[in-house]
Amino acid sequence: MDKFFTMGGHRIGRVGYGAMQLPGPGVMGPARDHDQAIAVLRRAVELGINHIDTSEFYGPHVANQLIREALHPYSSDLVLVSKVGSVRGEDGSWNPDQTPEALIRGTHENLETLGIDRLHVMNLRVMPKDDHAPADYQPVRFDEQLDAMRQLVDEGAIENFGVSTVTTEQAAQAIEAGAVCVQNAYNLLSRSDEPTLELCRDKGIAYVPYFPLGSAFGWFPRVDQAPQVVAVAERLGHTPAQIGLAWLLHHAENVLLIPGTSSVAHLEENTATRDVVLSDEDIAELEA
Ligand SMILES: NC(=O)c1ccc[n+]([C@@H]2O[C@H](COP(=O)([O-])OP(=O)(O)OC[C@H]3O[C@@H](n4cnc5c(N)ncnc54)[C@H](OP(=O)(O)O)[C@@H]3O)[C@@H](O)[C@H]2O)c1
Repeated sequence: MDKFFTMGGHRIGRVGYGAMQLPGPGVMGPARDHDQAIAVLRRAVELGINHIDTSEFYGPHVANQLIREALHPYSSDLVLVSKVGSVRGEDGSWNPDQTPEALIRGTHENLETLGIDRLHVMNLRVMPKDDHAPADYQPVRFDEQLDAMRQLVDEGAIENFGVSTVTTEQAAQAIEAGAVCVQNAYNLLSRSDEPTLELCRDKGIAYVPYFPLGSAFGWFPRVDQAPQVVAVAERLGHTPAQIGLAWLLHHAENVLLIPGTSSVAHLEENTATRDVVLSDEDIAELEA
């Protein structure tokens, strides 16, 4: 199993880190434990992780501020990936903010908070119309959003762009327009996005599954609680979370993981997944 995959010209370790668990409850407000959040980020880099996923809308601002505090000036090897396309309501809601102007403004906000002139990869996070939108709300056309992302590349604010929470058709359109990755919800228990993963694999594009363990939100099944995952974990002497993540790594070589955690112990456990080996029989049992 390859331990690296190239995304946007960068050789990326297949186990990265997602920063969404660092802000407070509901991904709002300051970290529950600031020092622990800083420790998680520094330990991630110590463990050789060179791919951190974040966003200005985690907190908002909190995840990016913590990354800057913990890791700036950044190692030249570290690839930072963020996302634009949403704005948080005061009630914690996630609302679309997808006009070209908003995508450009949001990108520059990310650069400022992270303390950089140029971001490695910015994901265009596509949002459905939210419940609070005015009746005359018109979603912004996808090709206009892609044009804004390309403009950001042309002006040098970002090296590359990706897309997130897209249909397979939108992923194809984005790859045609130059996207270097697709970040969609996917894990062992929720595999409906398989066609997008396959499209990315065929095109040599990174597929970055979010909610690889089933998220912290509580409304998705938890991968580490699935009986077949627990059984394989017990047999192989690994934790259930490691088995769920290892299945993703074995499933396709273009998968880059960004499991989210606020705990150093979980971070270490998740990172060690890069050395977990599953046999064909283990994989068949997990997929049954
Ligand atoms: N593009 C998008 O729209 C989008 C959406 C969601 C997420 N993301 C990105 O994807 C990343 C991953 O998704 P996620 O963080 O929402 O969900 P996730 O990685 O599926 O799960 C995170 C949850 O699992 C727990 N956890 C982590 N490691 C564990 C372990 N070894 N054993 C037991 N529990 C463990 C965490 O709790 P502890 O903190 O206690 O470890 C947290 O509750 C995010 O951090 C974010 O960067 C992107």
